[in-house]
Amino acid sequence: MELHNQERAPIYEALERFRQMRVVPFDVPGHKRGRGNPELTQLLGEQCVSMDVNSMKPLDNLCHPVSVIREAEQLAAEAFGAANAFLMVGGTTSAVQSMVLSVAKRGEKIILPRNVHRSVMGAMVLCGAIPVYVNPECDNRLGIPLGMSVSAVEKAIRENPDAKAVLVNNPTYYGICSDLRTIVRLAHEHGMLCLADEAHGTHFYFGEGLPVSAMAAGADMAAVSMHKSGGSLTQSSLLLTGPAMQEGHVRQIINLTQTTSGSYLLLSSLDISRRNLALRGKTDFDRVLRLAEYAREEINAIGGYYAFSRELINGDSVYDFDVTKLSVNTLDVGLAGIEVYDLLRDEYDIQIEFGDLGNILAYVSVGDRPREIERLVSALSEVRRRFGRSKADLMTQEYIDPQVAVSPQDAFYAPKESLPLRETAGRVCSEFVMCYPPGIPILAPGERITDPILDYIEYAKEKGCSMTGPENPEIERLNVLKEDE
Ligand SMILES: Cc1ncc(COP(=O)(O)O)c(C=O)c1O
Repeated sequence: MELHNQERAPIYEALERFRQMRVVPFDVPGHKRGRGNPELTQLLGEQCVSMDVNSMKPLDNLCHPVSVIREAEQLAAEAFGAANAFLMVGGTTSAVQSMVLSVAKRGEKIILPRNVHRSVMGAMVLCGAIPVYVNPECDNRLGIPLGMSVSAVEKAIRENPDAKAVLVNNPTYYGICSDLRTIVRLAHEHGMLCLADEAHGTHFYFGEGLPVSAMAAGADMAAVSMHKSGGSLTQSSLLLTGPAMQEGHVRQIINLTQTTSGSYLLLSSLDISRRNLALRGKTDFDRVLRLAEYAREEINAIGGYYAFSRELINGDSVYDFDVTKLSVNTLDVGLAGIEVYDLLRDEYDIQIEFGDLGNILAYVSVGDRPREIERLVSALSEVRRRFGRSKADLMTQEYIDPQVAVSPQDAFYAPKESLPLRETAGRVCSEFVMCYPPGIPILAPGERITDPILDYIEYAKEKGCSMTGPENPEIERLNVLKEDE
């Protein structure tokens, strides 16, 4: 294979050349290098708005890349060990949707864990695929879903030999990994593809002492959030494919939903971030890993909090753990994770990634320094001292096995009616309900609503989780399928 020069950043370089050409714009965007929108220029700076340009021959076109974007994609493919890489500007949501739409169409099955991000289920609403859920085991003490056990995947494959693909979270939001290599092998042995949601795993491709990346494990497609641990701008992402996927077909699928006006701010940020990762990712992530390890030790020394790590590894449903994830169980402090999340922001000006019923996740990245870690640790210690209480009335999250009555697409588009929350028990939901983040649906279209699910929704609302999905923003009502239809 021809090796590319990872020190190059073709999109960034083309933008620099273009800037020096001082081209007079009679094309979009209409702000014309910011002149038509002085307030925006003041906010973002002249340099930034002058790079917000349209596709044109010297800058290539994201929908059909032939020059600098294509080169940037080849560099990314090489850096991530993929056969092909596609730069994405619609978030990892668009990468996940493109994976699902590339492998399944209406009526075809995908095997997956239930604790997937809403983008996976949204993709199934779009294409009409049928989910076959593998129950991720749940750690009852922590109240978090784990990975898929190999035997559970094997059983799902045996019972659904017609499934097109197996989708795996690599890792989950909390840092938990399934045995991806074995799952890939099983899928391939049964003629299925393996897809990985690597929204939280970009650093697996560059760091040491981290779980295996999807491409190294032989997966066929991976959706990689460069804007999370990769350092690029929000909304920029990568879709990686292995040798079994046909590049042209995947490009056509991406173009079904991707904008025809790809942002050069996002594209150049992907290009520059890939260069950084290729050149110094190993040292950067080594530092992140050490910061997270240090924070974990300090937080565990406070008492009450449990910053969990590799001790959860059990060879199966927790096959590996991403030690850069600073996930902390808060229940022994007598506070729900979401309460600690709110207290850290309201009382200590610290914004963490998310809090659920029993845990928080503080995102540690290349942008952190020891002083921020110290501040987080001392704030957590203060939260315990000032607000800690008995854990008696706290609810932990339990895995509720979904009862899929109708496919997500059929349920989403079916005739429906809106009912008060408590009157929906026993009915089939036609919309999503989730806490965001993490964005893992509590209910997805087509699933039967049960009393434990309603208890959970009410408790999460009461604790202050920000909930989204339903048409009714207060989540006092839910749309359900009409019974007589
Ligand atoms: C597991 C997972 N997949 C996909 C996504 C979608 O990513 P984005 O917000 O970039 O669209 C997220 C977002 O948090 C996620 O957590």
